[in-house]
Order: sequence, then C-alpha cells, then structure tokens
Amino acid sequence: MLDVPMPARTLYDRVKRVIPSIEWPVFVDDIEAILALKRQRNAVILAHNYQTPEIFHCVADIVGDSLALARKAADTRADVIVLAGVHFMAETAKLLNPDKTVLIPDLEAGCSLAESISPADVRLMRRHYPDVPVVTYVNTSAAVKAESDICCTSGNAKAVVESLGVSRVMMLPDEYLARNIAAETDVEIIAWKGHCEVHERFTPADIRDLRENNPGVVVLAHPECPPEVVALADFSGSTAAMSDYVGREKPGRVVLLTECSMSDNVAVAHPEVDFVRPCNLCPHMKRITLANIRSALEENRHEVTIEPALAEPARRAVERMLAI
Ligand code: 13P
Ligand code: SF4
Repeated sequence: MLDVPMPARTLYDRVKRVIPSIEWPVFVDDIEAILALKRQRNAVILAHNYQTPEIFHCVADIVGDSLALARKAADTRADVIVLAGVHFMAETAKLLNPDKTVLIPDLEAGCSLAESISPADVRLMRRHYPDVPVVTYVNTSAAVKAESDICCTSGNAKAVVESLGVSRVMMLPDEYLARNIAAETDVEIIAWKGHCEVHERFTPADIRDLRENNPGVVVLAHPECPPEVVALADFSGSTAAMSDYVGREKPGRVVLLTECSMSDNVAVAHPEVDFVRPCNLCPHMKRITLANIRSALEENRHEVTIEPALAEPARRAVERMLAI
C-alpha cells in the first residue's frame, strides 16, 4: 500500500479487494475534495449500484437500486443532491425535491430505454388501447412519466401492475421487463419494444457456457435481460434484490448477469463468495467519475430542471408508485 493520508487510508481498506493499490493514489485527491465539498454545501451523493467502487464505497451517502434512490431522494434534508447515476434518476430526484438543487455530473449520462420512447409514442399507445392504464418504468424521461398513470421499477413492477386492480395494463418501454413480469402475473401486459443495451446482450448460450465452465455457479439475472435468459437463471430481481440474494443465500460461487460494477460493489461486502465476472458495461453509468462529481460540486453543474407543466403530472406518477 502506498503512503496515503487519512481518511483515504481508512477508505482504501473498504475497497482494497476490488481496487489495486497501484490505482488508489489516482483517486485520493478527488475523494478528499468531494468529502470536504459535501460538508461545505450540505450535499449528499446518491449512487446507483452500477457506479464504480471508488464512487460507491468512498464518496456516496446513499446507494441502491432505482427504487431505493427514489425513496431516499424523497427523504433527504440536504440542500444539494448529486446523482451519481443516469439522467432519468436525477430527474426523479428533482421531481421529488423541487426546491433542492439536483446535479448530474455529466448531462450525456442517458439510457437506451429512456431513449426508446417519446411522449407522442405514449399518446399513440393510449389511442390504440383506450382505458388501459399506462405503467411506465422509471427509466424514462420526465416528459414520458407525465403521460403515464403510474411508474414502476424493476423492484416493484409486479406489485405496481397488480395494485391497479385491472385485467390489462400497458407496461412501457422495456419489452423484456414487461414479458418477465407477465410470466409472474395473471394481468395481461401490453409491451413496447424498448431494450436495455446492456442486458439485451446476455444470451441463453452465455448461461450454458457459464455453468459448464464454473461448476456449481448460481446465476442471477436482472429482469431487463431477455425472458429466455431469465428462464435459465436461478433467480431474477432488481439490482438490490440480487445484492440481497447474495447476502442471504451466500452462494459459494455466483454470477450477476448485469452491469460490470455491480459485482465489484457486492464483492466488497462478501469476501467469502467467488464472483464469476462476465459482465457488460453501461457506457452511460460509466460517464460519472470522481473528477466530474468534484466539478459538479465546485461549479454547481449540471443543474437538473423540469418544466413545471411536466413536473406536476410526472411527480404524480412517481408518488403514486412510492405510495404502494
Ligand atoms: P435497478 O432499479 O434494478 O437498479 O435497475 C436500474 C437499471 O438501470 C438497470 O439497468
Ligand atoms: Fe439504461 Fe441499461 Fe444503462 Fe440501466 S444499464 S442505465 S437500463 S442502458
């Protein structure tokens, strides 16, 4: 271990299993600056499970899946929220905290699902299926949420669909999430054709190879994976549900079919578990770095704003989900 000052040394102890000591000095200056800036600005950093370990374990105050970040965003007493994640997550935090400053360190941190559908598409679907409620995945723009009846995440999609007490819903825009939830409920689900560019790349052949090359491996798949992949997995759930599964079941060997950083972040807490790591990178999540989190706090950028006419109906859809 190279010579580094406190508190960086203490922090390094948390991540030493996933960050080589030779890389650590590159992070120290930004970590110490961010910790000081958070105190000065009464700021919190919300980090999604796909953030890299130096962000997730060393500067974040609140970590979790999209549902946890939305819930915690609603509760925070900070003046400033920095969202270490993608743009739709920052918009959700702003919807729930209209009077706070919400910053996203890189405006280009998007999402292929959010890109796959526009407000006009939702209106078109409503014309095709009048009287069928629209359940919108949180991985969408505020403008799309504003056209929706209620939001859902991968962690609560089944409960949201069933809470409506109807026999048919539209679930937009993730086709695979919609089909995976349809397999678990009697409610008929009408889907859109959006896909996550990270999870759509996993295939049934990947699972067969993994099992052949790693005897006894337990396969966990995110529900944004194609249904043929989920069908071959041992468990499917949101990023938080996968992390909980590892903590609860303590499999000897596990593979998480999801974004790369997730395994690093979960591995930190479970040194006894062997993580097999074929993973796919989310280029949008990887736009967030310690350097741009630091600039976000130093220069108050990039501030997330939402047109008031959109914010009100979009907030209603998110709050309706949180009330479940
Ligand atoms: P979770 O809500 O499961 O964290 O998923 C968010 C996401 O973007 C997965 O690709
Ligand atoms: Fe969007 Fe997929 Fe990246 Fe999640 S992993 S932010 S769904 S592109």
